[in-house]
This record gives sequence, structure tokens and C-alpha cells, in this order.
Amino acid sequence: MTTRLEIRRPDDWHLHLRDGAMLKTVLPESARHFARAIIMPNLVPPVVTGDDARAYRDRIMAALPDGYTFDPLMTLYLTEHTDPDDVAAAHASGLVKAVKLYPAGATTNSASGVRDFDRVRPVFERMSEIGLPLCVHGEVTDAEIDIFDREAVFIDRVLDPIRRATPGLRVVMEHITTSDAVDYASAQDSTLGATITVQHLMLDRNDMLVGGIRPHYYCLPILKRGSHREALQRAAISGDPRFFLGTDSAPHATHAKENACGCAGCFTAPIALACLAETFEGLGALDRLEGFVSLHGPAFYGLPANTETVTLTKGAPQDLPPPLPVEGGSSVTVFDPGRPLHWSVL
Ligand code: NCD
Ligand code: ZN
Ligand code: ZN
Repeated sequence: MTTRLEIRRPDDWHLHLRDGAMLKTVLPESARHFARAIIMPNLVPPVVTGDDARAYRDRIMAALPDGYTFDPLMTLYLTEHTDPDDVAAAHASGLVKAVKLYPAGATTNSASGVRDFDRVRPVFERMSEIGLPLCVHGEVTDAEIDIFDREAVFIDRVLDPIRRATPGLRVVMEHITTSDAVDYASAQDSTLGATITVQHLMLDRNDMLVGGIRPHYYCLPILKRGSHREALQRAAISGDPRFFLGTDSAPHATHAKENACGCAGCFTAPIALACLAETFEGLGALDRLEGFVSLHGPAFYGLPANTETVTLTKGAPQDLPPPLPVEGGSSVTVFDPGRPLHWSVL
């Protein structure tokens, strides 16, 4: 039985760090384990221009405690007014590694997102020319489409038409949650990648809804039925380089989650690696963990894999971290997968 696993230091290809007091609380939790992360731009107001991204990166680096090394890979929030020249300049300077597409109204802080996809065609065309990836929150927002179907419908109605209209555009399907997304991604060429979260690999909608409603399991896209979780697990352990980790660790104050109208997002960063080791081991695929967390993502983004390593060890189940205090009096509750975690990161 394996009780010790040394892998290249991982990266997180989809992370929410927020700003201000919350940033201070959550940043060390990611920087402790991950070398780099794709930083989501859905602040209020959003990170739209190259200048916004530069200022946000400076705030992140200022919040990083001494002794940590961490490289925030910045993204721009695509709006219908985004200027292709600004995007290209931010990419050329090395600052920005992706542009993020939020369909307006699809998720947390997406109100400034895109309503009419034709209006951003010139940005997509420039991104295709310069090889800058588009990260996509892939859900339609039409009220008549059931929330459990919104990802599958997005693929047919929005994603595939965009990719056909802009050949060569590199696209990351973010936080995929369905077998439909796995099947679509598996059938594409290497211009397409897909990230998978910890919670979508470990849980399905029954975990969220049977025996009481668990607000800390509520995220978007919403957890689906068990057969979809199994398809995601098969993709994650397949060794297919198109699938890689994006935790989508998305902190909200505890009171905003445990609420009559709770916010979407799971704060997984502190235990993401332990959860993944537990999950991959349970699937008999510990040998595939390094590819998923440390190798496939950099290859997609054209970056070198990290040279340092981290060591995971297996022992007695670890206690879950208590809610972390946030300056100003609130707290943020750490994701509890509802099963013992035997792995920890040295
Ligand atoms: C994210 C957030 O809180 O910013 N929430 C979530 O449920 N995943 C937004 C997002 O990634 O869609
Ligand atoms: Zn999203
Ligand atoms: Zn997210």
C-alpha cells in the first residue's frame, strides 16, 4: 500500500482569491501547496483591463506572507466593451494568461459579462491569432432551461458555434460537471482543455440535498447526478492531458453561505490536495494524480511544469480546519467532503 507520494508541485488552473480582507485570509491557503494559479477576475468591479490586472496582481503579491512563493497568473474579465488591443498588450507583456468569459447572469459577479456573443467576436479573433486562451463559464442563462441542463445546452448553443467561428481559439471549459462536457472535450483537438473541481469529483447532488440542504456544497455549475460524477472521475484519472485541476475554490463569508439565499461557491483550497489524493486512491489511480494536478495544466498553457516537489503522506484521518477568521469579524468555512481524509501534504 502506498503511504508516501512525491509529485511535482501542483498548480491551480481556476482560483478565486477575492480582494481586501478575504484575500489576506485565503491566499496563504493556496500558496502553501500550489506554485501558480489562474486568478479569476470576477471582483466587484471586475478586472477588465490590463491596468486592472496589474493593480490586482500587485495587491495579491502585497498580501502574500513572507516565506511563500506563489505566481498569480492573471486573467481579464471579458465584457462587450473589451478592447482587443488592450488584451493583446496585456498578453504581450506577460501579465495576462487568459481571458474569462462569463455569460451575463450565469454565476457570482457575472452581471458585467457577455449577453451577445457576436459583439466579442473581434476579441476572440485576436486571441486566436496570438494564442491567448479563453476560459469559459459554460452555462446558458435562459430562464426556461433547467439549471441541471444549462451546461449541456451551452455546449451546443454557444461553445461549439464560437469554436467553429474562430478556428484555432484555445478554450478551457471551466469546472465541467457533466458527461456531456467530458464527451465533448474528449472528441476535440488539443486547442480544447477542461478543468475539474474537487467537489465535482467527490460529490453529487444527493450529497447536497438528501437528509438536509448543505449550503457549503452549493456551487455553480450545480452538482449533478452520480453518473456525471463518475464520468468526471474517469476523465480525471484517464491520463488524457486535456483534463486538469482547477479547484474553483470560491470563498464566501460563512453567513453568506448559511443563508436563506446562500451564495454559490465551495472554499476547498486548504484541503484540495488531500481530497484529491483520497479520491484518486479510492479509484485505484494514485499514479495519475501528478498528471492531473501538476503536468497537464502547464502543458495546455505552454508553461514549464514546476521543478520543486511536494510530498503527500497517508496516516490517521486528519481533523478538518475550523472556519478561518476574516478581518472585520466574519469567517470562511472550509469545505468538508464528508468522509475521512487520510492524506496530508508535508
Ligand atoms: C464562483 C464564485 O463564487 O466566484 N462560484 C461558484 O459557485 N463556482 C463563480 C464561478 O466560478 O462560477
Ligand atoms: Zn464559473
Ligand atoms: Zn470559479
